[in-house]
Amino acid sequence: MKLFEVYSQIKTEPVRAKGVFLFDKNGKKYLDFFGGHAVISIGHSHPEYIKNLSKQLKKISFYSNAVINSLQIKFAKKLGKISGYEDYSLFLCNSGAEANENAMKLASFQNGKKKVIVFTGSFHGRTSLAVAATDNPNLRAEINKTDNIIYCDLNDKSKIENIFSREEISSVLIEGIQGVAGIKSADIEYWNFLRDITNKHNALLIADEIQSGYGRTGKFFAHSFTDVKPDIITIAKGMGNGFPMGGVLISPVINSKIEMLGSTFGGGHLACVAGLTVLDVIQKENLMKNARKSGEYLIGKLKKLNNVKEIRGKGLMLGIEFNADTQKIRNTLLNDYKIFTGISWDKKTLRILPPLNVKKSELDIFIKSLEKTLKSCTDTDSR
Ligand SMILES: Cc1ncc(COP(=O)(O)O)c(C=O)c1O
Repeated sequence: MKLFEVYSQIKTEPVRAKGVFLFDKNGKKYLDFFGGHAVISIGHSHPEYIKNLSKQLKKISFYSNAVINSLQIKFAKKLGKISGYEDYSLFLCNSGAEANENAMKLASFQNGKKKVIVFTGSFHGRTSLAVAATDNPNLRAEINKTDNIIYCDLNDKSKIENIFSREEISSVLIEGIQGVAGIKSADIEYWNFLRDITNKHNALLIADEIQSGYGRTGKFFAHSFTDVKPDIITIAKGMGNGFPMGGVLISPVINSKIEMLGSTFGGGHLACVAGLTVLDVIQKENLMKNARKSGEYLIGKLKKLNNVKEIRGKGLMLGIEFNADTQKIRNTLLNDYKIFTGISWDKKTLRILPPLNVKKSELDIFIKSLEKTLKSCTDTDSR
């Protein structure tokens, strides 16, 4: 059997990883400023992570939700405390798409309505409703097309007001910071507007913090920079530092009913230990503060570089837009300086998503390499 080819890949195979570095089979070392799509939160092969997962593996690695698992309760308590959502409930699943699918379904269960407002540039996953809520027609098959999803431009109030005046809206789904779109944010005032209009029309506000959450921006959630409390918050990526996990944080106004949601694998024993370890390390090593400081440091340095047009985002979720060929910049960083970075749908923007425990010396390697890259790329461009 061969693999079903659906990925455009970096032609490198990491076989070992430590902290912010990856190593291929020849021992070649790469600086990981992509973190496997923003998944590696506490760094590769963190000693606590290895220790705790190995220990749990010897006890019990998995049992389904047919039985009590007190690790889930411990995890929910800890997550509530660190995120500031102690009065919310947690539903555990396995991926970001699944979290969003459940969030939209839950909103519909709650208010009996079926339409969802989403935003231009959104990425919410690849399952049926999540992909319908993802602003890329190439990812949608005929079967995914639905009238239940309505698109609006980020920060545009009048279209949303108009839609609410004529349609029954179940929920509004918005990314904390849009990731795949090229690191784009709603204004703080827009978050307040969404909170007010959803309250007014008995619709639920869902924040997709799958990429922007878990301390990446310097606060636990990107929307924590506002005063808004969404009714539902979805999480995944950084949650398990690579162990597949997803979650839905649910406001106390939403009541649960047996069987309304479910998952075989969600919240298994190993997943909970991975999740608990990530939260422990984020706290013990002050990683949110490190993300904030590192972001400020990077932005300060990036601003001084030629051909950097704009820097967007917060903490360690940054988009750098260039006045030069971004694909060439990314390839040069990879081939000549052995640095992984991320691309985005906005072809001019490079995404920077390193592990949250990145050190100043590693940020300096990136900045120096980018400076040289920009010089060589623009020198050859002007020839
Ligand atoms: C904001 C956002 N939502 C949802 C998803 C989907 O997550 P998953 O790939 O785990 O299904 C992603 C993945 O990139 C994402 O960035």
